[in-house]
Amino acid sequence: MASQSSQWNNNTAFLLAATGSAVGLGNIWGFPYKAGENGGGLFVLLYIFFVITLGLPVFMAEVFIGKKGKSNPVTSIETLAKSSKSSSRWSIVGYGGILASLIIAGYYAVIAGFVINYGFISASGVEAGAAAAVYEAEKANFWEMTFWFSLFLFSSGFVVANGIDKGIDKAMRFLLPMLFVLVIAMVGYGAVAGDFAKGLDYLFSWKAEDFSAGTIQAAIGQAFFSMSIGMGTLMAFGSYMPSNQKVSKASAVVVTADTGVALLAGLAIFPLALGLGFSPNAGDTLVFVTMTEVFAQLGAAGQFIGPLFFFLLAVAAFSSMISILEPSVAFLSQKHSMTRMKATSYVVAFCFLLSLVSVAGHNVWNTLSVGALDNPFEAMKYFADDFLLLLVGTGMSIFVGWRLEKVIDADVMGIQNKFLMNLWVFILKWVSPIFLMVIWTLGNLQILFGIRFF
Ligand code: PFF
Repeated sequence: MASQSSQWNNNTAFLLAATGSAVGLGNIWGFPYKAGENGGGLFVLLYIFFVITLGLPVFMAEVFIGKKGKSNPVTSIETLAKSSKSSSRWSIVGYGGILASLIIAGYYAVIAGFVINYGFISASGVEAGAAAAVYEAEKANFWEMTFWFSLFLFSSGFVVANGIDKGIDKAMRFLLPMLFVLVIAMVGYGAVAGDFAKGLDYLFSWKAEDFSAGTIQAAIGQAFFSMSIGMGTLMAFGSYMPSNQKVSKASAVVVTADTGVALLAGLAIFPLALGLGFSPNAGDTLVFVTMTEVFAQLGAAGQFIGPLFFFLLAVAAFSSMISILEPSVAFLSQKHSMTRMKATSYVVAFCFLLSLVSVAGHNVWNTLSVGALDNPFEAMKYFADDFLLLLVGTGMSIFVGWRLEKVIDADVMGIQNKFLMNLWVFILKWVSPIFLMVIWTLGNLQILFGIRFF
């Protein structure tokens, strides 16, 4: 039977699992295209700024809730609310996280399925100039997309069903080293075959004219998504932390690795794209159209390097997908006393249905708009990434800053310096809730009602 243990059996498991979660499509697919769309350097600097000032503190808050509550996102919050004499309704933050994770799973699997498919497409070679047409054809194929996402979803479910040590930890020990080797190899190739100086300049040069409120929103949203904040994953993984592991140190390691890989992904993609004369501001088709075109231009070398690139993306997506399934599996197995196998089957079945809707959003339902959103796929992405994520992040920040102030213990956190501890609590109490809610309101007004303030 699947392992039901509720603690990692070693000290590196959390680091590996949380890094595997954080480093995903968000880093290699999302970060470069968002940097490209938002003018390069300024976006990157804002991104790093928000990672340090808002992301890391809220990341630590989420891990803290898990570590202290020692259970799934909902039960952890209920336990801590009780011990701090707060309302049990705070559990809504945990439910919000689980809901976000399920919706993300629904569309994430579809993009990952696309990635696997593209591994094969690029291996068989795409003719120069044909990448855009190939993308349109692939997107239109409901059954093919369903086949690839199912393969991806069921394999990640298999790992999760096997428990945290025999499933997740074991898989991460194998996936993460591979991921780092692949990303470094891609950067190396980009430096040789592309224009590294141009790529570096694109990634880091300051283009003030591209600054807008949208850039700030994009940078914060991307930072939270990339660090896996606000979906219950960090609470779940934090709950399995051995007692002697410190939240602050572990969080800093994961956040640094995540940011490092996002920058490396930029350094793998931009030199190649720019070096071969393509603009990297194609939006979310950067990886599937622009990069496929780049590989097509590279001829025979592209048939080798292209699949390697998509394999890297698939590995990153797989380790993240495992972590996206965990909060709801932990919730069902711990709160509703199911075996992990049964809990995973329910979760995977539910995500399968969501993924079908998400696939349909690319083809049969691609003109079925949901409110202001173009199709069901965009609607799911919007509701999870732009609506729920910052809301849950704000909820956790307020909960830890205002309700748990008395239970925060320096030892669990690993913060002995009084100034740093006060700074962390101050950010959670004031800075992140106010800032996140302003950004959330502005962003949603713009997306839903087209209202723009600046
Ligand atoms: N952080 C992952 C990425 O950058 O692709 C995505 C992700 C993982 C989102 C885990 C949500 C989650 F719970």
